[in-house]
Amino acid sequence: MPLVTTKDMFAKAYQGGYAIGAFNVNNMETIQGIVEAAKEVKSPLILQVSSGARKYANPTYLKKLVEAAVIDSGLPICLHLDHGDSFELCKSAIEDGFTSVMIDASHYAFEKNIEITKQVVQYAHDRGVVVEAELGRLAGVEDDVKVKPEDSSYTRPEEVHEFVTKTGVDSLAIAIGTSHGAFKFKGEPKLRFDILEEVGKILPGFPIVLHGASSVMQDYVKIIEEFGGSMPGAQGVPEDMLRKAASMAVCKINIDSDLRLAFTAMVRKHMAENPTHFDPRQYLKPAREAIKDVVKHKLINVLGCDGKAE
Ligand code: G3H
Ligand code: 13P
Ligand code: ZN
Repeated sequence: MPLVTTKDMFAKAYQGGYAIGAFNVNNMETIQGIVEAAKEVKSPLILQVSSGARKYANPTYLKKLVEAAVIDSGLPICLHLDHGDSFELCKSAIEDGFTSVMIDASHYAFEKNIEITKQVVQYAHDRGVVVEAELGRLAGVEDDVKVKPEDSSYTRPEEVHEFVTKTGVDSLAIAIGTSHGAFKFKGEPKLRFDILEEVGKILPGFPIVLHGASSVMQDYVKIIEEFGGSMPGAQGVPEDMLRKAASMAVCKINIDSDLRLAFTAMVRKHMAENPTHFDPRQYLKPAREAIKDVVKHKLINVLGCDGKAE
């Protein structure tokens, strides 16, 4: 099966009240861990690549690794550009064979966001590629951009209908209180489910995307701290909130930080316990296994998309 778009995945997820996991990838071990998990539980998958990941790994290497994942797994896999910040970057990803792109012009004014998103949609749709856009602005760290909490803003439900109709976009990321990275809430976690509910009513059947949706699994934070790291106050989105969002209009849930934490925890642990090891395979193997464990847990217990590739 070739790479697929998210069209069919989202239609089924919306109907079924579950969400598809969109996992960020940078290297072979992470891709293998994710795909092994999805294979075992027969889940559809979105592998997403940020512009930072493209720069780090080289677009050709990443594309070939994802092609290998498709061949190895036989699963429906979508290759998605995460947080494309310009028409040119989206165009380049489409030329590379991505089946889905995100144009993130959420930091521009509403009209400008519409204009850029519309341009990407026209180019992408002519080539059979789907487009995600964003309205509202998440706090946190993406690439080199740090959005301070005071510069973040919730999505305004009264804007979503005009945005979606004018741009023709296929899915919409909204800001309801999640943020990128491992430090999401100071104090009690709180998501604006009222905004999600209203958006769902205004756009019935339309797939909504949740960024910044790592739950910052405390088991791995503890291992990192036990073996020399320091992450005071690391906190993510509680899993029950993610399950609730998945049962509503949210069809795509983005997870990166949880993978980074699991990978780092296992490398730190292995190096501390085996000071004489210097073969990367010795510490990358447990890191890859941890990625698989995390993804399997998410697919079954958080997203509910296990068995949906059958
Ligand atoms: O939303 C951002 C993702 O976590 C990707 O992070 O831009 O550092 O690769 P990155
Ligand atoms: P996390 O930092 O919560 O994993 O969010 C990832 C994300 O939104 C990628 O676009
Ligand atoms: Zn994101």
